[in-house]
Amino acid sequence: MEFFIDTANLDQITQARSLGILDGVTTNPSLMAKEGIKGNAAVMEHYRNICQIVGQNVSAEVIATDYEGMLREGLALAALHPAIVVKVPMTRDGVRALTTFSREGIRTNCTLIFSAGQALLAAKAGATYLSPFIGRLDDINSAGIELISQIVQIYRVQGYTTKILAASIRSSLHIVQCAEAGADVVTCPLSAIEGLLHHPLTNQGLAQFLADHARINADS
Ligand code: E4P
Repeated sequence: MEFFIDTANLDQITQARSLGILDGVTTNPSLMAKEGIKGNAAVMEHYRNICQIVGQNVSAEVIATDYEGMLREGLALAALHPAIVVKVPMTRDGVRALTTFSREGIRTNCTLIFSAGQALLAAKAGATYLSPFIGRLDDINSAGIELISQIVQIYRVQGYTTKILAASIRSSLHIVQCAEAGADVVTCPLSAIEGLLHHPLTNQGLAQFLADHARINADS
């Protein structure tokens, strides 16, 4: 399973990259707004900076909701850097745009996926990645992880090559569940990635090893 970080914060992207396990970045307009990025030129510059840090698989979302606008914005984003993946929402015009981008060889990430039917359409349209939002489903008392399992099964049976990119991750447990369910990629906050590092028995065991090492060296 590939690990992406779900942020537009350059420090967090750099920290995740320094772990050596980072395969990409996802952003969305809310994450860009959180960083205080204003105006088209600043947004484009910020994407360029992210691409320079991570070097691969950077999802950048179109804002337009009409087909022509999505194409125009998507082409401009794709021209920024070879790492860019054009993020397109699951709408009627979005599906049309995915089909066109796919024909043109432009990589895409179909976002805001909440059902297996939407996942089917995105795969038919040739999306490179599909982003089911599991945390937002959990938030409304619907098991997000079950949607991942269902899509994994459908894509396997049908032979679709669209990669399942589990998004809206809220915890380290979500990451493990996504791996179990067969997601191709998981995009998560830095805290959820770092949460995978910890176990009290690891800390306890390491403290014991270091203490024994110190005792033996003190004895000799
Ligand atoms: C990623 O592509 C999504 O935009 C993101 O994971 C949404 O997460 P949220 O539900 O925490 O906003």
